[in-house]
Order: sequence, then structure tokens, then C-alpha cells
Amino acid sequence: MADAMSLGADCIITIGAIQSNHCRATAIASKYLNLDCFLILCTSEVNVDKDPGLSGNLLIERLVGAHVELATWEEFEKIGSLALLNLVQERLVKEGRRPYIIPVGGSNSLGTWGYIEAVREIEQQLQQREFGEVSFDDIVAACGSAGTIVGLSLGSWLSTLKAKVHAFAVGGDLDNYYEYAQALLDELQANLRSCDLLHIQDEKGLGYAISTTEELAFIKEVAETTGVILDPVYSGKAAYGFSKDVKKNPAKWAGRKVLFIHTGGIFGLYDKSKQLNDTVGKWNRMEIHDLISPKDSSQFW
Ligand SMILES: Cc1ncc(COP(=O)(O)O)c(C=O)c1O
Repeated sequence: MADAMSLGADCIITIGAIQSNHCRATAIASKYLNLDCFLILCTSEVNVDKDPGLSGNLLIERLVGAHVELATWEEFEKIGSLALLNLVQERLVKEGRRPYIIPVGGSNSLGTWGYIEAVREIEQQLQQREFGEVSFDDIVAACGSAGTIVGLSLGSWLSTLKAKVHAFAVGGDLDNYYEYAQALLDELQANLRSCDLLHIQDEKGLGYAISTTEELAFIKEVAETTGVILDPVYSGKAAYGFSKDVKKNPAKWAGRKVLFIHTGGIFGLYDKSKQLNDTVGKWNRMEIHDLISPKDSSQFW
């Protein structure tokens, strides 16, 4: 956003899935800076001509007045995200606007600085006395468009942490992820190989943003036992994949101190409320037996 401001932009264009957290965060950040926000949200063929509704991230985006335009996943794959962004950009330029484009997930070389900075913050926290001698051997996080894990791994490599990053990919193809990560590292002239910095495992399950009953049951179990709310698209799948890996390969993780990075995305849960219906707790009408004495009129509540 600082780059957009310094270039004199008057609006932001970005793209993502229909429940993209990145798009929601961009829409809000744009409003903080008094910029208009144009979002291209990708959805299925059957939903592309309908009002996308107000669930989860969409509610927030529409509350802050982002301009939402829908495209299909097929168009996204055929035309490519950059071409779709350019289409909106051309239209806005013709209207006399000064748009600034942010790619999918904010995952370009500039975007990786977000998590490079996050590692610096983690390092500073670890140096505070109340943490004693805590250090981490591994960092575990979800991976979508790869900017997060490149920032984390580069930050870890640059800092005193030196923890290896294990990523659980929630969509797409594993080989492509190493390539995306490499492209980001090359853009930053890091002179490092993505396969040395990162270990990426597939955890897309039924597909991007599609939850299995087991994944949702895991999210429920974590919520109930710890109070930590995982999102169904990213941290939920990553934590589920990690817990399965720990059970399957106990020797790999034995004695290791692991830092799991919860990357947010809580609004995505609202999109799963129907599917979560069977998993969440029961409710009942309160039982009120003998009617007690009438309420004292001086009692306000
Ligand atoms: C909540 C959440 N966690 C993790 C990620 C993955 O980040 P990245 O796309 O940088 O791989 C995303 C991506 O949008 C996200 O919304």
C-alpha cells in the first residue's frame, strides 16, 4: 500500500478466490488510505452470474464498499490472473483513474517483506526475557500463493532463528510451488534455492477451499480443547496435515520445537456454517420450572 501511495495511485485492483482473505484485507487497507478498491473474485461457473451474497469475507468487502467483479475459475486459468487484472486496469485508466495492481495473495517480491518483517518481530519477542531460552527448530504454516512461506523462510534464514519452514499446500501442484517460491527468491536476488529453504507437502484434500468432514472435526476439536479457532481453507488444513504427519512420522518430529504460524482467515469459517452444523454443539431451550417471585420493579435487568 505504501508503494501504491508513493506512486500516486487513487485505487487498488487485486484478485483472489470468492472468500479471499487477501482481498478482504486489501479492501479494508484501501479504505484506511482513502483509496477505492476493485476486487476480481473467482467462483464456479454456476455462481458467476449471481449475487455472491454476504457470507464471511464478502460481507466485510461489501461493507467497506469494495467494487466486486466476478470471474470463473476457468477464466482465471485460461486467461491468467495478470491478464484479468490488466483488463480492469485498462478500463479504469480510460476513466481517468490511477490504479495500482496487487497480484494474487499479494505474493510478489514486495509482498514477501510482510513475513520477513513478521520473523523479525518473532525474533524480537524471543529475545524478551520472559521467554527465557526459547528457540524453534521448525516453522509450520499453510501455503496458498507462496508469498507467506517465502517471507517466513527468508526471514528465518536472515535472522538468528534459522528454523526450517514446513509448508502445507492447500491447493495447486507441489512442483509449481517450488517454482513460484524460486521465482520470488530470484526476484529478490536472494541467491538461494527454494528446495533448500522450504519443505512443501500437499494438504489440499478434496481441493482448494473444500473441506472434508475430518478436517472440520479437527477444527472443532482444536477449538474445543484450546480455544484457538483455525480457518477451514488455510491454517485448518495445515494444522490437520501437520498433526497427521506427527502421528505418521513420530521420529521426524520427536524433540523438535515447532512454531505453528496461524495466518488468520477466521471469516472463511462463516462460509462453512452449513457443513459445520452437524459438528458443533447441541443447544436446547432453557428449562424454567417453578415460576419464582415476580421481578422486583426496581431491578433494571
Ligand atoms: C488465512 C490465510 N492463511 C494463509 C494464506 C497463504 O498465504 P500465501 O498465499 O502467501 O501462500 C492465505 C492466503 O491468502 C490466507 O488467506
